[in-house]
Amino acid sequence: MGEDGRSGQGAQDGQHRRAASRTAVLVCQGRAAADGRAAVGRFADPVAVRLLRDEERAVVEQVRAGTPPQGWRERTGYEGVRACAEIAVPRTVAIDEALRSQASGQLVVLGAGLDTRAWRLADLAHTDVWEVDHPASQQDKRARLAAAGAEPVARSVRFTAVDFAVDDLAAALAAAGHDPAAPTTWLWEGVVPYLTRAQVRATLAALAGRTAPGSALVLNYQAPSAKAAAGRLLTRLLGSSVTAGEPWRSRWTPQRMAALLAEHGFRVTADDDLLTLARPLDTPVRGRTSLRNGRVAVALAGP
Ligand SMILES: C[S@@+](CC[C@H](N)C(=O)[O-])C[C@H]1O[C@@H](n2cnc3c(N)ncnc32)[C@H](O)[C@@H]1O
Repeated sequence: MGEDGRSGQGAQDGQHRRAASRTAVLVCQGRAAADGRAAVGRFADPVAVRLLRDEERAVVEQVRAGTPPQGWRERTGYEGVRACAEIAVPRTVAIDEALRSQASGQLVVLGAGLDTRAWRLADLAHTDVWEVDHPASQQDKRARLAAAGAEPVARSVRFTAVDFAVDDLAAALAAAGHDPAAPTTWLWEGVVPYLTRAQVRATLAALAGRTAPGSALVLNYQAPSAKAAAGRLLTRLLGSSVTAGEPWRSRWTPQRMAALLAEHGFRVTADDDLLTLARPLDTPVRGRTSLRNGRVAVALAGP
């Protein structure tokens, strides 16, 4: 076990050290920008803004006011947060609803980033939550939560530092008190694209080994799209330092994802793109390519 509570090869050799995730901050900014502005009554995240630092909040305020700043770099940052707000709304609404309908006494949030559910979803009052994330990102979140004085609404929150690329997820969850004999709701939002196919498979194998009957997996992933890949490359070339350090490594067609999940004992019951999920919501859909390629799937354990 490493100093930060990690087990496995990564903790031993000190490899895969990196900075806290900046895309986690971007998604949080997106939710903060949309709170009270889009899909009111269906979407809300009043906790997101509290986790942001002053300079991160400034661009959120510009997006909320609809006042783009002058200057190329500033405008790129503004457009990133605006686009992220568009994506965050249908993704959050679909996932929150899936978590309500698949509630269990255990929720494991994989690659939690600045996820606020344990601090805002009253439905989690009888649920123990494990927040699993890369050690650097988790440390950053814990500092932000402390600065905000945020108190969880979930029954409990346990922080489990895991690098999916090198650490043993199953051992880390066992050490953190997760019960593999009781049903678990697994949430994997906004993380799969940042992992290689092998890392996605290994993570699924680890969680499948701790999945009791009655469990569910709520998953957000990216479908392949040449247009979306070109857009992301262009954003990087134009100088967005946010996505530069966190490249996408795997995209999955719905068919391949369903087959992969079936291999690990999960049956897909819903799998929709974000554009479809956004349609019934009162929310902007300017970035159709991004929305069309982001997906939210729900899969149940068992045949
Ligand atoms: C775009 S953020 C998404 C955060 C959150 N799930 C959300 O949707 O707001 C990506 C998250 O994946 C985590 N992540 C990426 N690669 C990882 C790895 N190898 N091990 C653990 N976490 C990883 C990052 O630390 C970050 O928190």
